[in-house]
Amino acid sequence: MMLLDSEQPRADALVLFGATGDLAKRKLFPALYHLERTGALDVPVIGVARSDWTDDAFCQNAHDAIIASEPHADAAVMDPLMERLDLIQGDYAEQSTWEELRATLDRHGSKNAVYYMAIPPSMFPEVARRLASVDLNHRGRIVVEKPFGRDLPSAQELNATLASVFPEERIFRIDHYLGKESVEDLLVFRFSNTLLEPIWNRRYVRSVQVTMSETIGVEGRGSFYDGVGAIRDVLQNHLLQVVALLAMEPPAGSDAQFLQDEKTKVMAAMTAIDPAHLVRGQYVGYRDEPGVETDSSVETFAAARLEIDSWRWAGVPWYVRVGKALTEPATEAVVEFHSPPRLLFDEAGGPAPDRNLVRFRLGNSDGVTFALQAKTPGPHLDSQEVDISVDFAAALGERSEAYERLLGDAIAGSPRRFARQDVVEQTWRVVQPALDEPGPVHPYFRGSWGPSEADRLLADGDHWYDPSS
Ligand code: BG6
Repeated sequence: MMLLDSEQPRADALVLFGATGDLAKRKLFPALYHLERTGALDVPVIGVARSDWTDDAFCQNAHDAIIASEPHADAAVMDPLMERLDLIQGDYAEQSTWEELRATLDRHGSKNAVYYMAIPPSMFPEVARRLASVDLNHRGRIVVEKPFGRDLPSAQELNATLASVFPEERIFRIDHYLGKESVEDLLVFRFSNTLLEPIWNRRYVRSVQVTMSETIGVEGRGSFYDGVGAIRDVLQNHLLQVVALLAMEPPAGSDAQFLQDEKTKVMAAMTAIDPAHLVRGQYVGYRDEPGVETDSSVETFAAARLEIDSWRWAGVPWYVRVGKALTEPATEAVVEFHSPPRLLFDEAGGPAPDRNLVRFRLGNSDGVTFALQAKTPGPHLDSQEVDISVDFAAALGERSEAYERLLGDAIAGSPRRFARQDVVEQTWRVVQPALDEPGPVHPYFRGSWGPSEADRLLADGDHWYDPSS
C-alpha cells in the first residue's frame, strides 16, 4: 500500500515505559486487549518497570487491568495478549536497563519500535536521551503523553530536547481528545456537508461556545492537579484542539500535514487570552482533597472569551468553559447563528424566534442537534424551537475508544490524530497571559455550573448554553 507523505512504516514492537502505572492500567491495557481482539496487535509488547516486579506480577497486573474494564474478557483474546508481554525489570537511571532493552528488541528482531512514554513528563528528556545512548532513537518513534510543557517556554524547551534525539515526524504527541470519533467527526461533518460551509463564518455565526464539564472532582489526583489546574490540564490542549477543528479552513488534502497546517494557521490567528476575559473558579471542598494545599489558588474551573482575528471569524466571540465538579459530564460545542429578521413576527404580535443552533455533543451520547424554528400550532404566526437530533451510536454503531485508536495509529505509523509541535506552541501562546496574570479564583459549589462571575464574559444578549445531554 502506498504511504501518504507523513505516514511512517508500521512498527514491529511496542515498548511501554510506565507499564505498571496508572495510565497503563486504566487505558493502555484495555486498549491493547481491543487491538488484540480486532487483530490489529501483531507485535511484542515490552514493559519497562522497576526491578521489584516479576514477570508474573506484571502479567497479573495487565490481566487485572483488562478485567476491570472488560469483566467478560474473552480468554481467546486474553491468552495471546499475555503471550506478547515481556518485562524488563530495572531502574531508568541504570545503563544496564537500556542495554537489556536493546538486547530484547534485537532478540525480537525489532528494527522499528514504538516507545510509549506513559510516565511523568519530567522523565521524557531522560528517557529520550537514554534511548539514544543505546542507539534506539534511530529505529523507532516515541509517543509522549500530555502535558507537553507547563507554558510556552517549557514546551519549547521540552521540544528542543526531544527534537535533539528524534525528528519531529517520529514524535507522536497524544491528546486523547484527537482520538475520539466525535471530535474527529467535527472535521468530517464540517467538510462533507455542503449545507454548513456557506454559513460557517462571521456573516451568519453570532457566537461559538465550547463547554467541557465533568462531575468528578480531582479523584485522588490532588497532588498532580494542584500543580497544574484546569487551564493547563484541559483548556490548553483538549479544548483548544476542539476549537481548532471547529474554526479551521479546509485542509488542502488528506495527508496529516495539511490538517496540522490548517490548525496552526487558525491558532496563529487567535489572539492570546486577555486576562480581563478570563474567569477562574475553584469548587468548595477542593482544598480539603488529599494532596491539595490548604490555601491553594489553583483553578478547577476556567472560562474565557477568545477571538480569532481571521476573515472567517473576526468579531465572533468564542466562549469556552472547562471545569470539574460541575452539574453534568459533557463536552459540547454550540454554534449560535444570528437572529432572523423579525418583521413577520412583529406584525403578528408574536415573540421573536429563538436563534438557530448547531450543538455537537462530543462526550457522552455523542451526536449533533440542529435547533430550528417551526410554527407553533394555533391561529398565530408564532414560532418555537424544534430539535433535529441524531445520536451517533444509534445511527452509526458503536465506535472504538480513543486510546485504542491512538495506540493502533502509533503502531501503524499514522500521525493524523496526534498533535504537531507548532500547533502545541500556538495553544501555549494563546493561554500564556492566563498563566502570567491569572487573577482571583472564585469559589463555586459542587454540582453547579461554576462561578457566576463567568457571566461577565458574555456580550449583551448572550448566555451560556448548558450542555443538553
Ligand atoms: C485528561 C485530564 O486529559 O482528560 C483529566 O487530565 C480529565 O483531568 C480527562 O478528567 C477527561 O477526559 P474524558 O475523555 O473523560 O473527557
